[in-house]
Amino acid sequence: MSTSPTLRLLVLADLHLDRWLPHGLDPLDHLSNEDLAQVDICILAGDLTDKATIRWPGAFDWLCRRLDLGRVHVFEGNHDYYAGRIDDGERHAAIAAAHGVGYVQRSEIVRDGHRFLCCTLWSDFALNGERFGAMYDAGRVMNDYRRVRVGAEGYRKLYPEYTARLHSEHRAWLAQRLADPFGGETTVVTHHAPHPSCVSPGDPLGPAYASDLTHLIEEHRPACWIYGHTHRAHRITVGDTEIVCASVGRPQDRDDPDGPARPAIIDLPTTGRHDTEDDCHG
Ligand SMILES: [Fe+2]
Ligand SMILES: [Fe+2]
Repeated sequence: MSTSPTLRLLVLADLHLDRWLPHGLDPLDHLSNEDLAQVDICILAGDLTDKATIRWPGAFDWLCRRLDLGRVHVFEGNHDYYAGRIDDGERHAAIAAAHGVGYVQRSEIVRDGHRFLCCTLWSDFALNGERFGAMYDAGRVMNDYRRVRVGAEGYRKLYPEYTARLHSEHRAWLAQRLADPFGGETTVVTHHAPHPSCVSPGDPLGPAYASDLTHLIEEHRPACWIYGHTHRAHRITVGDTEIVCASVGRPQDRDDPDGPARPAIIDLPTTGRHDTEDDCHG
């Protein structure tokens, strides 16, 4: 653990380790082991791998060579559910726990005067003003709706209305937690994006990647909102909130001039409240 008066945060979305490791590639090659040893909290913000129930154990075995897994927290992106069920959360939580990793789907982490509100978020498909058309387009072309099943509904394929419902639930949870009084700084960490600027204007699939949560952001003014999913470098300030993309992305994304930036370790000033361990609340 760092002894400096800062809390060192590393958020990694879209590691997609199954696209890197079989080729002997390291998506964290911009961070030295000395850098990573200084990290106090690492949040894996979705798309760690496809097929989480099969591949998360290998992902954690690889990560533990670079990071102390006792400092790592994880929640799912859309890809983690591939070849599995949208209702596999308990299985994912058990795999994380077996590796000493915190599972923080719709959970908050409190540490040293900071709180981190974590959830996948999904999207409301409303970004371009034609919600049902956007759901139709997403259902027609996105792998989310081919490669994920809903166990509780007879193992049928996942469908956009289901993920829109999940978005409503995650958004309501965030709104409620953001409204809870907290004496320190709040950082929101989601997989899907919270603002229209996070996607290209008019992109027909943009509504599957981002929702317009400007009202929520301006009302509750979290210090920072970190997201992924888009694999696209982006940083903007909305009201008092810094919004930043922490996608790592796949190897081929590094050749894309609009591709992701490599997420850096963020030094957050501590406020004199020194919780000895991460305190997680579901
Ligand atoms: Fe991704
Ligand atoms: Fe994603």
